Amino acid sequence: MTDHILVERQGAVQIIRINRPDKKNALTRAMYAKMSAALAEGDADPAVRVHVFLGVPGAFSAGNDLADFLVIATGGEGGNEVWDFLMALAKAEKPMVSGVDGIAVGIATTLNLHCDLTFATPRTLFRTPFVDLGLVPEAGSSLIAPRLLGRQGAFALLGLGEGFSAERAKAAGMIYDVVAEDSLESAVLAAAADIAAKPPEALKIARDLMRAPREELIARIEVESEHFRERLKSDEARGALTAFMTRKKG
Ligand code: COA
Repeated sequence: MTDHILVERQGAVQIIRINRPDKKNALTRAMYAKMSAALAEGDADPAVRVHVFLGVPGAFSAGNDLADFLVIATGGEGGNEVWDFLMALAKAEKPMVSGVDGIAVGIATTLNLHCDLTFATPRTLFRTPFVDLGLVPEAGSSLIAPRLLGRQGAFALLGLGEGFSAERAKAAGMIYDVVAEDSLESAVLAAAADIAAKPPEALKIARDLMRAPREELIARIEVESEHFRERLKSDEARGALTAFMTRKKG
C-alpha cells in the first residue's frame, strides 16, 4: 500500500491526506486505489460520519500523474484505478469536506465539485487544463460545473482551462470559503466536527436531496470516461503529455 495517501481517524472524521510533496501531490494509480478503499471503508463504518480531503502546504494536488497518462497514450496498460475513484466519489454516502492550499489541477479541482464544503486559501488556483492536454472533462464535471457556475463559467473553467483563484471560485459558488493558510486545517476540521455532530440519517437524506441524482451523475462519468480513454490515445494528448514529461526546466 502506498504511503503517498495517509488515512487517519479523528473521532468520527476520516482524513484522507494526499502526501507526495516532491511531485506536487500528483496522483498515481496506487494513490487512487487507496483513496477509493478509504471512502468505501469509511462509508461502511458507522463510527465514521464525514470524510475529509487534505493535501500538503502549497499543493492540494497537481492532478493525475502525467507519466501514468503517458503510459496509456503510448499503448501501455492503464488500469482502472482512476475510473474506480471517480465512481467512488460519485457514490460516497457520507459528507465530504476538502481543504485546498495552492496547486489544484485537473482531478484536484473536479474532486471538490463532489465535496459538500470546500475551504481554500488565498494562494490556491483551481485549474483544469483538460482541453490543452487534448483531453476532456472528467469526474462528472461537465454536468456539475455548468449547474454551479453557469454554462459560460463552466466553459471558462473546463474549456478554456482558465485558472480560478479561491476568491473567484467562492464568488462563482464553487467553494464554501476562503481561509488563511495557517487556519485551513482547523477550519476544515471544525466544519467536519459540526457535520459529525448532526443526526446522520436526516443529514444523509438532506444531502442526497441536494445533489444531482446519482444515476445521472454516474451515467455522465461513464460517458466522459469513454471519451477520456479515447482521447488519451489521440495525437493531441500524446503530444501534450510528451511535451510535459520531456520539458526542460529553466
Ligand atoms: N504528473 C507527474 N509529475 C508531476 C505532475 C503531474 N501531474 N505535476 C508535477 N509533477 C512533478 C514534476 O515533473 C516535477 O518533478 P521533478 O522534480 O522530478 O522534475 C515535480 O513534480 C515538481 O513540479 P514542477 O513542475 O517543478 O513544479 P512547479 O511548481 O514549477 O509547477 C505545476 C507545478 C503543477 C504548475 C506543474 O508541475 C504542472 O503544470 N504540472 C502538470 C499539471 C497537469 O497538467 N495535471 C494533469 C491535469 S489532467
